[in-house]
Amino acid sequence: MRFRTGCIALMSLILMPMAYINSTGTAKPMEKKAFGTTSDGKTADLYVLTNKNGMEVSITNYGGIVTSIKVPDRNGKIGDVALGYDTLDGYVTDKVYIGATVGRYCNRIGHGEFSIDGVKYTLAKNNGENTLHGGIKGFNKMLWEARDVSKDGEPALELRYTSKDMEEGFPGNLATTVVFTLTNRDELKIDYVATTDKKTVVNLTNHSYFNLAGPGSGDVLKTVLRIEADKLTPIDSGLIPTGELKNVRGTPFDFRKPTEIGARIDQDDEQLKLGRGYDHNFVLIKNKPNGLSLAALAEEPATGRVLEVWTTEPGIQLYTGNFLDGSIHGKGGVAYTKRGAFCLETQHFPDSPNHSNFPPTILRPGQRYHTTTIYKFSTK
Ligand code: GLA
Repeated sequence: MRFRTGCIALMSLILMPMAYINSTGTAKPMEKKAFGTTSDGKTADLYVLTNKNGMEVSITNYGGIVTSIKVPDRNGKIGDVALGYDTLDGYVTDKVYIGATVGRYCNRIGHGEFSIDGVKYTLAKNNGENTLHGGIKGFNKMLWEARDVSKDGEPALELRYTSKDMEEGFPGNLATTVVFTLTNRDELKIDYVATTDKKTVVNLTNHSYFNLAGPGSGDVLKTVLRIEADKLTPIDSGLIPTGELKNVRGTPFDFRKPTEIGARIDQDDEQLKLGRGYDHNFVLIKNKPNGLSLAALAEEPATGRVLEVWTTEPGIQLYTGNFLDGSIHGKGGVAYTKRGAFCLETQHFPDSPNHSNFPPTILRPGQRYHTTTIYKFSTK
């Protein structure tokens, strides 16, 4: 009898490719829940990924949005370190890209214009005269096709979306796949893949807002940050890069040594004034040009939570929630206030299509865009 029960248990494990084994030895599949209905009557789902250590990440196929990241502090107390909303409607009406997959071109394109082979493309403008985060209806407002691609005991969610030729003004049908894997090393690994049938520009990122002490626990100014960058791309009053690559030495942008986010944020510095704080692209020191390298490391002293960001991208945007003003109420009704979170958006540089000295963002038919970013959590 015991043998039969054992066999059945073993067989059910073999027959459960969508499952993983957690530390208590019980198998738990990636959980899928209905999240709500969009205005055009489509159902969005919420996928809950849990690794063997009990770390839990929730993602919806609406906008490819990471809705929560639950990790322990140094005493083992679990906390949600990502801003978000309780309902789908929060994400439908959101204007600050909380947790979103951002595309087709994250960050800004100056004047909403660029040219490829002498052909000028005019984009949907949604940030003054500029295009921000893909235009009026970016990838963050699309319903993605979801598939469970968990393997080797690690939950993984694949999301697919094909952006049509000339959507928001961008040329080419762009087939996009984003795979979110929650590894057993407490990493949220995001792989972005895209192909096109016409020359286009692509720049994909994730716009999670982090507060490692937990949203609602005050500002992030005491979070200690290191950024592996020796230059930044200074901006103009429209937050568009001027084209200069400026050395961080002697400026409030030098995070090569771990420094509190708030230590210099209110200094009398032209760039900080233009960004209302940090809202800048840092040029990463890449030891392996297109390989994964450490981009940033954030430590929250009170909870001991640590976030490492690894990426194949050449740049990272540090945004310190300067536009949050308390008017947004997120999960549990918490008001999201100025500097109550930080974003570390891995990317090619903003407005690259208009700067020939920046690493190119052009994608041609036959080429495969593939970038990887890892958000790794631990405690100290
Ligand atoms: C990015 C931009 C910011 C702001 C936020 C969204 O991080 O760089 O200027 O637009 O997105 O509010």
